[in-house]
Amino acid sequence: MINKIIAFFTTSIKRRLIITITFAHVFLMSIFVYDLINKQEDFLKKQNIEQVKSLSNMIERNSISWVLSNDFLGLEELIYSISKYPNLEYAMVLNKEAKVLAHSQKELVNLYLADDISLDFFNSQKIEPSILVQNDAIIDYISPIIMENQHIGWVRIGLNQDLTLQNLKNIFQEGLFFIFLAIVIGYLFSYFLAKNITKDLYDLIKIANQTATGDKKQRSKVYLNRKDELGILSKEINKMLDKIEEDEKKLEITNMQLENDIVELEILDKKLSELNQDLEKKVEEKTYELKLLNENLEKEIEDEVEQNRQKDNMLFQQSKMASMGEMMENIAHQWRQPLSFISTSASGIRLHKEFNTLSDELLDEAIENIMNSTQFLSNTIDDFRDFYKTDKVKSKFNVKEIIEKTLKLTSSRFTNRAIKVIKDIDEIFIFGFENELIQVLVNILNNARDELEKLPNDERFIFVTLKQKEDKVIISVKDNAGGVNEKIINRVFEPYFTTKSDEKGTGIGLYMSNEIITKHFNGKIHVQNEVFIHQQKEYKGANFVIEVPL
Ligand SMILES: Nc1ncnc2c1ncn2[C@@H]1O[C@H](COP(=O)(O)OP(=O)(O)OP(=O)(O)O)[C@@H](O)[C@H]1O
Ligand SMILES: [Mg+2]
Repeated sequence: MINKIIAFFTTSIKRRLIITITFAHVFLMSIFVYDLINKQEDFLKKQNIEQVKSLSNMIERNSISWVLSNDFLGLEELIYSISKYPNLEYAMVLNKEAKVLAHSQKELVNLYLADDISLDFFNSQKIEPSILVQNDAIIDYISPIIMENQHIGWVRIGLNQDLTLQNLKNIFQEGLFFIFLAIVIGYLFSYFLAKNITKDLYDLIKIANQTATGDKKQRSKVYLNRKDELGILSKEINKMLDKIEEDEKKLEITNMQLENDIVELEILDKKLSELNQDLEKKVEEKTYELKLLNENLEKEIEDEVEQNRQKDNMLFQQSKMASMGEMMENIAHQWRQPLSFISTSASGIRLHKEFNTLSDELLDEAIENIMNSTQFLSNTIDDFRDFYKTDKVKSKFNVKEIIEKTLKLTSSRFTNRAIKVIKDIDEIFIFGFENELIQVLVNILNNARDELEKLPNDERFIFVTLKQKEDKVIISVKDNAGGVNEKIINRVFEPYFTTKSDEKGTGIGLYMSNEIITKHFNGKIHVQNEVFIHQQKEYKGANFVIEVPL
């Protein structure tokens, strides 16, 4: 219940203002009325005392002679003359012994005062004016009658307080009226004040509500009539609403732009997916075409490879034939000497036979010579036949032996051209087709010989070395014929590349050598021109280096 009452006043500024101002009015008015009544009461009491004193004074002065002459009629006259005095309850003149000489109530004359208050006072022997009783009902005042410093009697007066009370009552009633008036005026005043303030506040609340429900155009007009805090608040709210509206507009524009962007994006997306589909289709088509092409290509490559293989075979045969030609020359040369030896021996036998000088010794010697020569011829044939056999299987062979064999087969072609072969050969075994290595060496040696032939002097050398370097076999064939022309040195391993005339060279020697070393021996072959010193003389020549893994 109390909570509800508190809530009732605290949930509305208007009610708070009304209650506060009204209470303030009532409070102030109550203090004022209370203070007024108190002061008025004091004033009236003092006025009553003054009244009673002056009345008593007047009776004292006029009663002196009557008291001295014991003239009670004169006193009675005096008392009677004041009996009409308003508020007078009683008035009396007493002698020193408290006997009533005159009284406003005649039946009390000649009696003695014997009430408690009177007895108390007279017993105290005081001779001075005193207030015996003062309360809301009465003021009882006594004053001595003095003549030439002689105390001759007393005047005692009782004034009732009825008028005073009436006055106070009137003032209190007026006070209540003013308090009521204060409530009414306070209420009305605070009501209009509160209404004036809250009306504008409600106006602001209304604007806020309208804004919240979507009507953003409303603005407060409170600031037009007010320059106080509410006016400022109204202006600030308007500013805030303007800002919100502006922001919303911006937001709307951004939104629109975004929507446009989204539409554009959607269009782009659609285009992209169309393009994608197109692309996919094209890719499919192209893939198919590629597949076909690939198949064709594979076939073409196969064909090409086959053709190349055939070509290589042909080249190989060609190269072999070429070296065979060389060999035939060698055979012819090597056979010339034993053949003439045989012929000489045979014709010697015939001559000795004709002249009958053929002894057994001569015949044996001649036959021995003929047999040796034929044996030599037979050996030579074997060597060449071996060389022209094609190796079927790879075998482990001594490279040194192979080099020696090759030099033996070709030696006649060097010796008749005054070419000195200088060897530095170690004993090393490798794995492969030995006749193919012979073919390579024959090619390189023949090339060197061809170049050395061109030299004018007789200082013609071929240096053949065979060494092992780490896990490789290094064969080097170096001449002093001046080296390969730098302009063509990078092309010498190309097929059909030659600087020689038709009958002297076909240009496949080094090409075949390279094929054999790289493909059949997993090795490498290269050439470089070198300047070197031999027997204190400087020479220049080509150095062909073959590297074959062990
Ligand atoms: N030792 C060398 N010194 C200088 N030039 C050389 C040497 N060896 C080869 N050449 C050059 O390299 C070229 C190619 O040699 P390659 O052996 O392949 O063919 P070719 O000797 O001309 O003909 P063939 O097919 O009869 O051997 C030669 O024509 C020559 O010009
Ligand atoms: Mg050659």
